[in-house]
Amino acid sequence: EKGGYEHFMLKEIFEQPTAVFDCLRGRLDAKKGTITMGGIDQHLDLLREANRIIIVGCGTSWHAGLLAEYVLEELCRVPVEVEYASEFRYRNPVINPGDVIIAVSQSGETADTLVALENAKNKGAFIFGVVNVVGSSIARLSQAGAYTHAGPEIGVASTKAFTAQLTVLYMIAIKLGYSKGTLSKERYQHLINELSLVPDKIQDALNEATSIEKLAKKYQHARDFLFLGRGYNFPIALEGALKLKEISYIHAEGYPAAEMKHGPIALVEETLPVVFVATRDVYHEKLVSNAREIKARKGQVLAVITENDDLFEEIADDTISVPAADELIAPLISVVPLQLLAYYTGLAKGLDVDKPRNLAKSVTVE
Ligand code: F6R
Repeated sequence: EKGGYEHFMLKEIFEQPTAVFDCLRGRLDAKKGTITMGGIDQHLDLLREANRIIIVGCGTSWHAGLLAEYVLEELCRVPVEVEYASEFRYRNPVINPGDVIIAVSQSGETADTLVALENAKNKGAFIFGVVNVVGSSIARLSQAGAYTHAGPEIGVASTKAFTAQLTVLYMIAIKLGYSKGTLSKERYQHLINELSLVPDKIQDALNEATSIEKLAKKYQHARDFLFLGRGYNFPIALEGALKLKEISYIHAEGYPAAEMKHGPIALVEETLPVVFVATRDVYHEKLVSNAREIKARKGQVLAVITENDDLFEEIADDTISVPAADELIAPLISVVPLQLLAYYTGLAKGLDVDKPRNLAKSVTVE
């Protein structure tokens, strides 16, 4: 049942090229330049005319939502908010008819997400579900949706469901942006091509597993980890930190790289590994100087970089390379080494990576 892998988590990490491919299959046609999604096509007017999109989820699904906020605002010029379901549910948020809620959930059974959606639906919001489990409670409550088609996810830590959620959310944003006219034909076609290349690029990223395992052994005794990223890679820094703490029980925090100066830099000393999610994008030079600031304070710098980034290789103690991609698409690939880092760190520490202590696969109580 684990298909020859030692753990479900590893199997599911390695299934990502297939999971993303399955998610794109029958929807995205790079040659024709089309994205066909039943649930979106039927409600395109509603999405185009939405005053606001609110994305609701928990944990890793919230991280997918945060990245979707950046992407939707960039491509579709619509105001987007992303909320933790547990907060949204209790804080009496302003919800108006004409607001579209996108619910993001792997299991489709997370109690906080479910109740948050029921409340919003009662206030007249339209609920669009991005769910993995077919026929789950959230899928049934949604008025429209797109399944992620990642296949069953057994490992408690979400991996392939996350990349599949992103794939669906990106397709929605690209399709909507083009239909609104906020995304040019050229950029639309370019992003479609880039999305179609993701399965192969994830495969290349997976081929670095052996060197990531070595890094995990090297850093396994750290007490804390910091994960830094900017722009589209900021949600990936949060996700990298969450994966590491769940699986290895090492305290880890994700931050926007520039926020470092506003507090976390106080933690930097020789024993602190700082992971930079530093694939090449418009922020690159800024990340280079952030990494230099860490080195100046004797922290250890580990960086996920675009291949052949000589400058970062020179600054960092250790680097993990991923193939080049459009900066918008890069997070789908840059998250993979961080999942592997968490997995191999837990493994090095002899922990139960598929069932970390105190965690359940779906949180059906609040
Ligand atoms: C982290 C993880 C959790 C879930 C969260 C939401 O690895 O798995 O943070 O992402 O409990 O679960 P779903 O997506 O099923 O609503």
